[in-house]
Amino acid sequence: MLTSGPRGTKDILPDSSGYWQYVEKTIREVCQNFAYQEIRTPVFEHTELFLRGIGDTTDIVEKEMYTFSDRAKRSITLRPENTAAVVRSYLENKLYSGPQPTKLYYIGPMFRYDRPQAGRYRQFHQFGVEAIGAQGPSIDAEVISLAVALLKKLGLNDLNLLINSVGCPQCRPVYRTKLQDFFRDNVAHLCSDCQSRYDRNPMRILDCKNETCAEYSQGAPHMLDCLCEECSDHFSGLQKLLTAAGINFAINLRLVRGLDYYTKTAFEIQYSPLGAQSAVCGGGRYDGLIAECGGQPTPGIGFAIGIERVLLALEKQELLPQINSTIDVFVAPLGVETQAAAFQLLSKLRHAGIAADMDFMNRSLKAQMKYANKYPAKFVALIGEDELAQQKIMLKNMETGSQELMDMTALVHMILEGMEK
Ligand code: HAM
Repeated sequence: MLTSGPRGTKDILPDSSGYWQYVEKTIREVCQNFAYQEIRTPVFEHTELFLRGIGDTTDIVEKEMYTFSDRAKRSITLRPENTAAVVRSYLENKLYSGPQPTKLYYIGPMFRYDRPQAGRYRQFHQFGVEAIGAQGPSIDAEVISLAVALLKKLGLNDLNLLINSVGCPQCRPVYRTKLQDFFRDNVAHLCSDCQSRYDRNPMRILDCKNETCAEYSQGAPHMLDCLCEECSDHFSGLQKLLTAAGINFAINLRLVRGLDYYTKTAFEIQYSPLGAQSAVCGGGRYDGLIAECGGQPTPGIGFAIGIERVLLALEKQELLPQINSTIDVFVAPLGVETQAAAFQLLSKLRHAGIAADMDFMNRSLKAQMKYANKYPAKFVALIGEDELAQQKIMLKNMETGSQELMDMTALVHMILEGMEK
């Protein structure tokens, strides 16, 4: 027990943390380019926020939340997603009083009691974007183009962008009734989840992975045929904008998404080489969520990208960058009495902004050279008894093999000059 983490969690070890840093750096560059600012919210919130925000008929709320009582008997939930929490923060911190729309992004861990498999974990990380306050389809197009720009910048080209409209409270009830009429005679054949979805949220039947449910869904009516004029105009407006920006997309009539807050635009980006967990990005508009959370009616749209899935895709396509662990100087003390001088040099180097390390294991000279080569280090600064007596160090250039006796200050200057070139 003590030597294995909980199921569905993963350690990000030093041999892969550089890849995470690379993806996170790229995310920050793209967000800056699109003028989105970072928001960091807590990893836990009052359970009520997710019940109200995500919807109590969703799989996330019904089956996947990590919910517990804190010591004061408040119900707390580890965030399964971050849209509801960002909306909570937007209202609590009155971000609506600044220039609108409020354009935010976040990177962080989310928690879902999901069935773990490749690309699906119980603690996973999302990069997400929320644009709150703008009504028209142009912000939808911007948000979608940000997701596409990021994935392309990382080198992922074979992306399938799927879009749909899930309507609004005005037109969705019409569709709901049509769907219930369509499924009415076959409810008993659907899986137990879908039998309860039939009454509570029949659109979710279209999204069920069960084969029988998928068969009975064949020929079901489409939301697009029931959209009100406003939703229909919004959807065609979005398509025009995406086309104008040269972003390829396909309309997927079965795309309903697994969270209840969506209105109008719903979208997903799939990367098919990932197989079963091919959805790298999911998002949509949530024009009712801010009012549901206690604010003035305010529109919003966003998405989240699963960082583990992006990394899996990059690995599959051999798009992960070479991670550089080079240091400038490895300080090699020879003998215990040289350690203080070695540590003094190490401190000087680091203070000057030079990447440096030293031997902490009392290794032999040969073993220290081997260790220095692993980084690899550009220089090794040897301090033996002779050097110590002369208050000097022997600097070995690991590329050329040349050696030079010099004092500590000269070494620092020389390395700094080399770095400036
Ligand atoms: P979501 O579709 O539930 O949407 O999740 C977005 C992405 O997170 C998925 O496409 C997938 O890449 C990743 N993901 C989800 N669950 C897991 C898991 N168990 N393991 C690994 N990756 C996972 C949302 O979360 C919405 N909040 C997105 C949004 C933002 N909509 C509007 N604004």
